[in-house]
Amino acid sequence: MKKELIFEGNEKRVYATENPDQVIFHFNDVIVAYNNVKRARLKGKGILTNRISALLLGYLNECGIPTHFIERLDDREQLCRKIEIIPLEVVVHNRMAGTLAAKLGVEDGFKHSNTIVDLCYNNDELGDPLVNNDQAVALGLATYEELDVMLGIARRAGKLLTELFHKIGIELVDAKIEFGRASDTGAIIISDEISPDTCRLWDEQTGERLDKDRFRLDLGDVIPAYSKVLERLESK
Ligand code: C5P
Repeated sequence: MKKELIFEGNEKRVYATENPDQVIFHFNDVIVAYNNVKRARLKGKGILTNRISALLLGYLNECGIPTHFIERLDDREQLCRKIEIIPLEVVVHNRMAGTLAAKLGVEDGFKHSNTIVDLCYNNDELGDPLVNNDQAVALGLATYEELDVMLGIARRAGKLLTELFHKIGIELVDAKIEFGRASDTGAIIISDEISPDTCRLWDEQTGERLDKDRFRLDLGDVIPAYSKVLERLESK
């Protein structure tokens, strides 16, 4: 079923299949941070991100949020709808942490009552700069109509994921969501992955970080933290 490699990223590979509108995502054990400056291989990480992302994207599908996810094939692979990549990242924040907290001069984890939705240009050379809708349209990255759809989906997905994680004692601090145009219909759908690699997840009781910040900040125990997230999602 798996055919030629069509994309090779740091943390995953994408293969063509016999169906021109479907691809296979393969998750490996590489972990990168700070725009690929920091890099390591953590045994079993790809199994965890594959399984967690399958559960989260499958949940969004069930809730009527369109994603590229079709089904998990095994520990490392999932079948997905083929998309045309839109080089934008939508980041939903329930708290200010990481880059945003540093930029605005507040403490990491600053709590605000509203939801913040940021749009970034996915461009490693430029360091994924924040852009507004007009700039994204001017660069030809998406149309105004597509941006409205993306931002609306991101807000709804953020709310659903926040509620889901709350049920298992985890606070969704922020989440990065990517989009593409489905190759068969052209519809805007969520693509890529949603996992502790792309979200900040804090234990509600202890404040323990259960996400990639363990790697970014050299806190250790990355695999045990990701395993906790998977165990709690599976136990629900
Ligand atoms: O790095 P920053 O603080 O802007 O990250 C905000 C959120 O988006 C975090 O959950 C982070 O893991 C995620 N992110 C990502 N990929 C990037 C940049 C950020 O998954 N290239």
